[in-house]
Amino acid sequence: MTDLRVELAGLTLRNPVILASGTVGYGAEYRELVEFETVGAFVTKTITLEPRSGNAPPRLVEAGGGLLNAIGLENVGLERFLDEKLPESAELPAPLIASIAGTSAEEVATLAEAVGARTEVDALEINISCPNVERAACPLWDDPESTALFVARARASTTKPLFLKLSPQTANATVVARSAADAGTDALIVANTMTGMRIDLDARRPVLGNVTGGLSGPPLKPVNLALVWRIAGSVDIPVVGSGGAGCAGDVLEYMMAGATAVEMGTALYGDPGSATEIVGGLVEFMERNGVERIDTYIGAARGEAA
Ligand SMILES: Cc1cc2nc3c(=O)[nH]c(=O)nc-3n(C[C@H](O)[C@H](O)[C@H](O)COP(=O)(O)O)c2cc1C
Repeated sequence: MTDLRVELAGLTLRNPVILASGTVGYGAEYRELVEFETVGAFVTKTITLEPRSGNAPPRLVEAGGGLLNAIGLENVGLERFLDEKLPESAELPAPLIASIAGTSAEEVATLAEAVGARTEVDALEINISCPNVERAACPLWDDPESTALFVARARASTTKPLFLKLSPQTANATVVARSAADAGTDALIVANTMTGMRIDLDARRPVLGNVTGGLSGPPLKPVNLALVWRIAGSVDIPVVGSGGAGCAGDVLEYMMAGATAVEMGTALYGDPGSATEIVGGLVEFMERNGVERIDTYIGAARGEAA
């Protein structure tokens, strides 16, 4: 018997595969496409205090075997999320992680308090790393002091497990990670997308309405895998990998680098069944190798560094 369970900051997930923020909407919209009962958890689209309409179209384009998105945190805002979206999403058979973002520590604390008070929510994920909005809306990813302030204020506003989603676009990653851990975040999501662009040759202009977008999918995996390795070696809290996971091997690479779980999203656009297939692939790999517990892979590639 294979045991796929992992412990993540007080939550026991039935397996380490988590559906990443923004890739399954608020959850319920994807109920016919994705088998939620097979995944470890899912993260809702990031919500902000006020509704946002996002960036000008086009907002999605394929690039380098991955995807560039410039959605720009389009969302229904706190009130409609709590009233309309959350009750429906909470009926899905998987733990629900709510993603939140704000322009100030106070705004994030307000969101953490309101969303964290709902019994339907199993954990909160603070997004400080969206590359597709004005810098003022996400000013933090390379600033350890503001990051610590955001985390500390959110920590004081909820007792729910609190995760922080970092950006790969910083030379400061381990410093930011450590300051977030010291300020009370329970786990780190490593990491969000990174800025990229494409040009339309006939139009002689950028393809995306926002000019640039966030690169996700396979090209992002080696970058974020290296970051998981560095950050897992720098903090004592769990790290969750994110970026380009599309098969069981990708999830295991992230885990062996030190991740406790792995978020995946872009692979769902190619095949909405891919999360379920990944979980099946994990079982197959473990059975083939006579491994009973998946959590024994966490940090397995680190040797003495684990
Ligand atoms: C269309 C799209 C929308 C996204 N929206 C969000 C979002 O609202 N909040 C967030 O934290 N990350 C968002 N992301 C980033 C993903 O959660 C994930 O971190 C990233 O895509 C890397 O993982 P992947 O390569 O498996 O997709 C979005 C990604 C895509 C492709």
